[in-house]
Amino acid sequence: MHPLVIRGGLVATAFGALRCDIGIEGGRVVTLAEHIAGGDEVIDATGLLVLPGGVDAHCHIEEPRPDGGRSEESFVSASRAAFAGGTTSVVSFIPQWKGHGVWDRFEDYRARAATGMLDHAFHQIISDPTDAVMADEVPRLVAEGVRSLKVFLTYEPLHLNDAQYIRVLEAARKLGCLVTVHCENYDAIQWRTQRLLEAGRTGPKYHAWSRPAVVEREATHRAIALAELVDQPVEIFHVSCAEAAEEIARAQARGIRVWGETCPQYLTLTAAHMARPDGALFMCSPAPRDAEEHERLWGMIRAGTLNIISSDHCGFSAAVKVGADFSVIPNGIPGLAARLPLIFSEGVARGRITLEQFCALVSTNPAKLMGLYPRKGVIAPGSDADLVLWDPTRRVKLTNALMHHAVDNTPYEGMEVTGWPVATLRRGEVVMRDGVVMAQPGSGRYLPRGPYDMVRPRGITANGFGA
Ligand code: URP
Ligand code: ZN
Ligand code: ZN
Repeated sequence: MHPLVIRGGLVATAFGALRCDIGIEGGRVVTLAEHIAGGDEVIDATGLLVLPGGVDAHCHIEEPRPDGGRSEESFVSASRAAFAGGTTSVVSFIPQWKGHGVWDRFEDYRARAATGMLDHAFHQIISDPTDAVMADEVPRLVAEGVRSLKVFLTYEPLHLNDAQYIRVLEAARKLGCLVTVHCENYDAIQWRTQRLLEAGRTGPKYHAWSRPAVVEREATHRAIALAELVDQPVEIFHVSCAEAAEEIARAQARGIRVWGETCPQYLTLTAAHMARPDGALFMCSPAPRDAEEHERLWGMIRAGTLNIISSDHCGFSAAVKVGADFSVIPNGIPGLAARLPLIFSEGVARGRITLEQFCALVSTNPAKLMGLYPRKGVIAPGSDADLVLWDPTRRVKLTNALMHHAVDNTPYEGMEVTGWPVATLRRGEVVMRDGVVMAQPGSGRYLPRGPYDMVRPRGITANGFGA
């Protein structure tokens, strides 16, 4: 007899969909069968899809800021948002500030994350790859289960030059970490920004002018070329346009271990949103492009070039964003809760991707890429019972209240979606039902990551150097 049975749903995974029951015990899936009799508790999923819980590989939560502040989104509020939208695990960021180490922040950030309800892992941002940091401190983080390093090729005060980026790649290769890269050309953006400000062009719409697609394409090419030089697997974060994705596709065709992430904002928003009076609320980097770009990106998703869709959740309330000139408005938009509904609606409901591709993009592939699979990202005996009961036909108009996050806006306000989560289970516990989140703060678990296959170098370098 199973303590919990999900009965009668269409169980969908990245490998196909079949009508079956799910037996759950000890927070894990133990049985998948056409019919499971009994059950101490039974949840009727008739007419619903049962999906693997979303894995969001890119979220800025309770993140310290260089000015001493912190993201408005706490781990508790982010957990509510995630569960409301069908996501059960996240990977969030621990920043490093120039002149500082990385180890001293880990315990504090880990304690903060433990106050929330989401299962969580961390990326370490590297902004100052000194010998001491890379040789002494990062290995300590790796021993604690941090297996991904994020680098920024733009942004004051985080950006790395090529020499620093190569150092990070080299260290990651030795340590068995993934490197994730924000690809935009720092100097090119600085030049354009200065010229725009000199001309009095200060509104949010000039954010897009300051960083057109070519600065993303150039940095993507460079990030991949240097990763190839060092033979280090990399994930290109938040790809906004096909010309950057084409750089990834070309490298993949040569066998380079590079993958690409895109986000709902690059599939639904355009630069025109930033020309509105509240345009600052749509400002993120890279900048959203145009509607034709959406279709090109869907093509890159179908082709497998872009293998994960994350939210890049990074919310700011309107008072923080609206009114300043574009060069000082903080970048980032919230999207934790909206990610699955938007991608299901724009992707599956509109026939651009299959249900299997949807599961892969929002759950299975991020779990694999982040070294969390098969504990996360799949519905199979032995995996955590992270499940979403999904109504594929329900039509919902998105509002900020439905997002459950801490900030007072969503860039998706008023958009209509088809498909909606009616219940979310995290490790076999119902944590959201009909929009009501009921998880206990402090119930989220840290997900330490060991060595995993996707970060294995190819062992091929020019001249055999360092291989
Ligand atoms: O605009 C964005 N994407 N803000 C969040 C930080 C980052 O670059 O990922
Ligand atoms: Zn970034
Ligand atoms: Zn980000």
